[in-house]
Amino acid sequence: MSNIKLETQNAVTAAQLSAIAADEQAAVKTLDTATGAGNDFLGWTDLPERTDSKLLDDIMDAARSLRNTCDTVVCVGIGGSYLGAKFVIEALSGNFAAMEPGRIGAPKVLFAGQNISEDYLYELTGLLRSRSFGIIVISKSGTTTEPAIAFRILREQLEAQVGRGEAAKRIVAITDAKRGALRVLADREGYRTFVIEDNVGGRYSVLTPVGLLPIAVAGFDIRALVQGARDMHARCASGDDVAATYAATRNILYRAGKKIEILVNFCPRLHFLGEWWKQLYAESEGKDGKGIFPASVDFSTDLHSLGQMIQQGERTVFETVVSVDKVDHSVIIPEDKDNLDGINYLAGKHVDYVNKMAEKGTAIAHIDGGVPNIRIQLPAITESVLGSLIYFFERACGVSGYMLGVNPFNQPGVEEYKRNMFALLEKPGYEEDTKAIKARL
Ligand code: PA5
Repeated sequence: MSNIKLETQNAVTAAQLSAIAADEQAAVKTLDTATGAGNDFLGWTDLPERTDSKLLDDIMDAARSLRNTCDTVVCVGIGGSYLGAKFVIEALSGNFAAMEPGRIGAPKVLFAGQNISEDYLYELTGLLRSRSFGIIVISKSGTTTEPAIAFRILREQLEAQVGRGEAAKRIVAITDAKRGALRVLADREGYRTFVIEDNVGGRYSVLTPVGLLPIAVAGFDIRALVQGARDMHARCASGDDVAATYAATRNILYRAGKKIEILVNFCPRLHFLGEWWKQLYAESEGKDGKGIFPASVDFSTDLHSLGQMIQQGERTVFETVVSVDKVDHSVIIPEDKDNLDGINYLAGKHVDYVNKMAEKGTAIAHIDGGVPNIRIQLPAITESVLGSLIYFFERACGVSGYMLGVNPFNQPGVEEYKRNMFALLEKPGYEEDTKAIKARL
């Protein structure tokens, strides 16, 4: 059973939870019986159970092959085809892992295709000139502009560095089973491929090969990650539906005028948890003129920037703190005979003790200042705990979206910027849009 704890008593009362219980149960039923809007995108709900040993073995085999030939592996993808792997790898890696050189057997995992920055690609291709690199290219549609640009540039470089035949062995494509440009290219060039199922949306895909392959290449235990997700699924199904309780809590707060939720960590390795979570909730809930705006902060760092606003700004914010019980290492604050900085009262104490007191003190200050505080307690940062946390947030998001009255599994608004960009770029087929947008410039 997953041992993540959810505390809601500093955000809502038991009476408030009871009052919304019927709505909560209706949303749970809609999700669990697949009777709501977007029910053709519910493949993620039983995905951990359906992920069998054969698939995990295949993923680990592909990871081994890349680890055996590459000191660097570039994952090309954006949005749901990027954020899950980035979050899990960062959470499980040392804080300074990025400074360590990659080596064969333990390659550095880098990311591309998540922006359109010329300087980013210039610097990345410069770095890769002296590296033995491979590519995992991830795109469900196979047509997304950002990863298409990055992949075209990196594939050309890889072929120039090692030849087309060897490049084909170092490229793994994760895409649709049959459709899309990436599928056509992968089949033509003989790349190893993994499939993103039709019924799993990008932001729910971290526990598919989309997330699992990069995470395995980085050296982490994907079996434990998937098992953690299964544990959380089993827990919610057994009646201890903490995900539904979280969904209900945030909907009570939203209905009471708390329109912004900030996901808080006190652990820098969890920065990208916030980025992944923001995509999950923003694309799922922000539609039809509704939705809790998801933001994220790294404390105590951001207490020195956003802290003032959270404490005393407009009272529309609530926070969800992801707290970690156990750190991995020990650092004790030393005694100093001059004590010029005045912190000798902390001498002999663990740095984490100070961090935990900052966390407690901040929670009390924020609650006193009118910022409801939801707390998600992790025993430690491990593969299994992260697997449970992923499933918890995914399930909560589905329930919450239905409580809000939206389809949590589409993202029609994401297309708007693309149409304008294509019109401005004069993409064939967009001639009328090009004329219209140019008239506005
Ligand atoms: O969640 C989503 O659907 C999006 O964020 C997509 O993952 C993102 O746009 C990338 O799409 P694709 O994998 O088709 O390249």
